[in-house]
Amino acid sequence: MTSSSGGVKFGSKAGFILATAGSAVGLGNIWRFPFVVGENGGGVFLLPYLISVTAIGIPIMVVEMAAGRGSGKGIVGTFAAFSKRAKWLGLLVALGSLVLLSYYLVVTGWSLGYLAFGLAGRHPGFDDFTEGANSILFFLASAGITTLIVSLGVRGGIEALSKILMPGLLLLVVGLAIYGLTLPGRDEALKFYLTPDPSALANPTVWIRALGQAFFSLGVGMGVLTTYGAYISRGTNLVKSSAVVVAIDIVIAFLAGFVIFPIAFTFGSEPGSGPQLAFDTLPRAFESLGPAVGYIVAVLFYLALLVAALTSAVSLLETVAVGLRDVRGISRRVSLGIVLALLLMLGMPSALSYSGLGLEVAGRRVFDVVDTAVGTFGLPIGVFITGVTLSWLGSSIVSRGLESRARISLLVVWVVRWMVPFLIPILFAAMLFDSLRHRIIPLAG
Ligand code: PHE
Repeated sequence: MTSSSGGVKFGSKAGFILATAGSAVGLGNIWRFPFVVGENGGGVFLLPYLISVTAIGIPIMVVEMAAGRGSGKGIVGTFAAFSKRAKWLGLLVALGSLVLLSYYLVVTGWSLGYLAFGLAGRHPGFDDFTEGANSILFFLASAGITTLIVSLGVRGGIEALSKILMPGLLLLVVGLAIYGLTLPGRDEALKFYLTPDPSALANPTVWIRALGQAFFSLGVGMGVLTTYGAYISRGTNLVKSSAVVVAIDIVIAFLAGFVIFPIAFTFGSEPGSGPQLAFDTLPRAFESLGPAVGYIVAVLFYLALLVAALTSAVSLLETVAVGLRDVRGISRRVSLGIVLALLLMLGMPSALSYSGLGLEVAGRRVFDVVDTAVGTFGLPIGVFITGVTLSWLGSSIVSRGLESRARISLLVVWVVRWMVPFLIPILFAAMLFDSLRHRIIPLAG
């Protein structure tokens, strides 16, 4: 079998775990998780989130990786190995990654921009920052950096970078969380963040948000793990590795709450302020911290955000580029060039919607529409498509890639086969019912 990965493998198990953790840990952990928690009432969100991540997240992760290792190809090639028709579904998933990446790079750009301003000792509010062309310039820069890293290859780019950046990221987040816990708003923040409310478990909207956030944060349903799966050597235990990656992902998201909520409560800002939490609420707080402390904390925070974002953006770009190569036998370089051009076209409206132009569709900024469409609805749909296709149509490839008939491995496949196809439509139906009852459709986040 020819492989679109060209037989390339990650150099070591640690390299594979760090690259996969790099894909999982991203803006979803540091930017999105705290504001989704904030919007959904704080501590009430944590239990549904943890259940979603472990009970559904780990199984789907394992199945996606097993499929990639079994086929030796990216998402399109893997699907094509089952049937011609499935190939189109694979393309749809790759397209989802492309759209996700296009707006993900806008937020990556904001992180880069705030880092640059932070280094110059400035903490602009979000409106000031996005008033001119900053969103566009930094979006272009982020797209350029991401493409450069991917062009260096799986080992020389993605793996090498993750090996340096991921341990650094963990240190940064731990340091910032310790700092957060020294602030006067700590008690109020912890109360908000950590008080569970069992009644929330009966609220379907909280569940779908939790499930959506779990999928976003783990990076499942977008073909990324199948793509990386092709680079995993034989003999690596996928269930254990996924558990390690998920643990790293949970720890970093959880710690991000200890960074953001104490800062928000100490400086009297609204923890439920939505997507702007990291880019509006926090800069104001950094301003109040005084020049020296504000400078250090801001620079470290945006550095962490940027590192987290880049290692995830890289995984999405690799997925789309390999997907395109699965369709057309073109070189890595040409495929990357084409994907970059598509990305710039698709991401520009999102970037423009947070610029002086304020581009909108149907009264909402394009960016917010894309975030809701892909971030909230697209990922569960992606998980549905990949879960059902891989566990039913592709079961022989999955079991070859799984390399294990241990009970836990079989259980994992069983969950994807039997739970995912029912759970996701039920959740969607419940959410629709809930939003009709309240006459609101849940927006962004
Ligand atoms: N998991 C990444 C994050 O938390 C985003 C991502 C989504 C990466 C889908 C890959 C695939 O930011």
